[in-house]
Amino acid sequence: MKIAVVGTGYVGLVTGTCFAETGNEVICVDIDADKVEKMKQGHVPIYEPDLEVLFERNQRQGRLKFTTDLKEAVDASDIIFLALPTPPGEDGSADLRYILGVAKDLSKLITKYTIVIDKSTVPVGTAEKVHAALVENLDESLFDVVSNPEFLREGVAVDDFLKPDRVVIGTDSKKAEDKMRRLYEPFVRSGNPIIFMDLRSAEMTKYAANSYLATRISFMNEIANLCEKAGADVDAVRKGMGSDSRIGKRFLFPGVGYGGSCFPKDVQALAHTAGQHDYDFRILNAVMGVNTKQRFRIADKLEAHFGEELKGKTIALWGLAFKPNTDDIREAPALYTIDRLLEAGAQVRAFDPEATEHVRKIYGEKVTFCEDQYEALDGADALAIVTEWSVFRTPDFDRMKSLLKQPIIFDGRNLYDLERMQEAGFHYDSIGRQPVVS
Ligand SMILES: NC(=O)c1ccc[n+]([C@@H]2O[C@H](COP(=O)([O-])OP(=O)(O)OC[C@H]3O[C@@H](n4cnc5c(N)ncnc54)[C@H](O)[C@@H]3O)[C@@H](O)[C@H]2O)c1
Repeated sequence: MKIAVVGTGYVGLVTGTCFAETGNEVICVDIDADKVEKMKQGHVPIYEPDLEVLFERNQRQGRLKFTTDLKEAVDASDIIFLALPTPPGEDGSADLRYILGVAKDLSKLITKYTIVIDKSTVPVGTAEKVHAALVENLDESLFDVVSNPEFLREGVAVDDFLKPDRVVIGTDSKKAEDKMRRLYEPFVRSGNPIIFMDLRSAEMTKYAANSYLATRISFMNEIANLCEKAGADVDAVRKGMGSDSRIGKRFLFPGVGYGGSCFPKDVQALAHTAGQHDYDFRILNAVMGVNTKQRFRIADKLEAHFGEELKGKTIALWGLAFKPNTDDIREAPALYTIDRLLEAGAQVRAFDPEATEHVRKIYGEKVTFCEDQYEALDGADALAIVTEWSVFRTPDFDRMKSLLKQPIIFDGRNLYDLERMQEAGFHYDSIGRQPVVS
């Protein structure tokens, strides 16, 4: 099939590349001319495991192209995915400026039957707005609007896209349904479902899924905080809970709150949608409240430990990306931690395997950025772990002790065994477990 993907970010680039990988001809459009130029030269502009090899192969074989010219992409395709940003507006609603702007442009460019697909996360009713924007300049027989929310996770996006748990398609057109089924069949050969539904339900499904996952995280963070006070160990509780097949083992890890480009804005947007329908979605308000507090959990612990003396202390920070295996720092808990530490007058020495350059753009010289994890410890008064990159899981504890001024670790991801930390002689404070006091 001939496909255009408008917006070549984390979702658009993975979508375009994976559709090319199944033999389709794909043209990716972006307004960022620098980015398009880099991609034309063969550079992947984001860090996403496994993407580069597919990107290179499909570009070399001529199935994956890049342009800044929307018209070129529209002329070359009969399926157009919108993978554009939907950032939060001031009132928490999803800002549809990008989606509706491009829909308007498309209404002037489409000349043959085309399926226009919302892949961005958009509120209930957006497909109708896209339809209205298209019909301004276009005959209704020339297009169908489809909702196809994306569920990929950054860090494993390629695998998620190639082997999705499910594909959700919202449409009221049989013609579009048939084409979407054919497009996605190669990705669900093992039997996972392509679920067809009406447009509004498809739009709601994405928000419901993300908000439920955010709820699980906030719930576990509350359990963890209570475990600390009540003398329980959240790791044991998590295993005991997760073994119940009604609950399941995944997504039960407490930490320093959820971040990233999706959960915070999607929970907020769903609460906003609820408000528009005069519905007080009380759980969502609690989920957001818990997360706002939790993302300062490590900074709170550092403040409680050092008191006034945090001013002038040097804190090593491991992990800047909002989660491992990505360079995405949108709403990353590390940024909240850094802000709080700088406010308290502490110095920060930070290391991340992939996200450093993005964070450097925000803080410049206010933070010392290190080339490796041990360099960050050199002369620091304590280590704070914020992102659970694998490389932090089995460090050289002796070397850490020799570099740190004091053997103190605040671990927002529960990476280490309590007994092991006791033996190694660390002061070790994690989430939802009793602190090891050296
Ligand atoms: N990132 C994720 O993990 C993820 C997962 C599922 C769904 N989503 C949703 O997918 C959508 C896109 O997210 P993302 O993370 O890929 O965003 P992103 O910010 O990484 O990428 C968006 C791209 O769109 C481009 N763009 C902006 N305006 C444009 C225009 N008028 N024409 C062409 N290109 C334009 C930008 O230059 C950028 O490259 C959002 O709605 C998001 O909520 C994201």
